[in-house]
Amino acid sequence: MAERKRVLVTGASKGIGRALLDRLSADGYSVVGLARSRPDGLSEGQTFHACDLTDFETTRSLIQRLAAEQPFYGLVNNAAMAPIKSIDDTTIDDMQAAVQLNLNASLICTQAVLPGMRKLGAGRIVNLSSRAALGKINRGAYSATKAGIVGISRTWALELARDQITVNVVAPGPTATELFNMASRPGEDPRTTALLASIPVGRIGKPEEIAHAIAFLLDPRAGYMTGQTLYVDGGLTVGNVYL
Ligand SMILES: NC(=O)c1ccc[n+]([C@@H]2O[C@H](COP(=O)([O-])OP(=O)(O)OC[C@H]3O[C@@H](n4cnc5c(N)ncnc54)[C@H](OP(=O)(O)O)[C@@H]3O)[C@@H](O)[C@H]2O)c1
Repeated sequence: MAERKRVLVTGASKGIGRALLDRLSADGYSVVGLARSRPDGLSEGQTFHACDLTDFETTRSLIQRLAAEQPFYGLVNNAAMAPIKSIDDTTIDDMQAAVQLNLNASLICTQAVLPGMRKLGAGRIVNLSSRAALGKINRGAYSATKAGIVGISRTWALELARDQITVNVVAPGPTATELFNMASRPGEDPRTTALLASIPVGRIGKPEEIAHAIAFLLDPRAGYMTGQTLYVDGGLTVGNVYL
């Protein structure tokens, strides 16, 4: 029997990353998840390693050790954090914290899987951006890093194209996860009520719907698509159905 293709997912303990573990193992991949806390109920085809991705040396050596066992065909840079601060309140520490996890950890993870992907002669990298990259109030540090993900992914797409490694971006809109609940406080913040009412499809997204777009980009048949950003946002970035 052929060996299952191996995919590394960061931020796999909850939300979109957790949904992705289930989706990818159901699709027949061998999935390795990273996050600081271990999720419950892992099933066949799923393994997990506790790791703080902002500890770069530990993260790099963990991934290198895992890749030496079996190279990763896919990487999903999904873990992120979002300081909720206005322009007046945002500190350099907020900026640094967002850059450390949302951008720098993605670089470290990507560098650590590349030798194995090159050996395989193929690879798929999917980076998570956000609708907030286009602008969202009180998300200065977060939106800067999520716009940065789009830029760095386009550059990596060009640098890695001849290695048959694709690099694409999934940019979710509001999705029912802990990050969204903590940052946007649905039911409490009137701006969130207005935001949810303005989603063209009339509802918030589910983590499995974001996982579906990521799974499409990871597919071996998606090799002619690279450097692209796919918005999965119920039509929010397209416009308003009432105007
Ligand atoms: N939900 C939305 O509405 C939405 C919208 C746009 C974009 N996105 C993007 O989608 C991605 C996933 O978001 P989500 O909503 O699923 O977030 P989430 O529910 O908060 O999950 C974030 C994941 O990242 C992990 N993580 C956080 N800090 C970490 C660290 N220092 N080291 C290792 N792991 C860490 C968390 O696990 P531990 O706490 O266990 O470490 C968790 O598994 C993010 O890139 C986010 O920007 C989400």
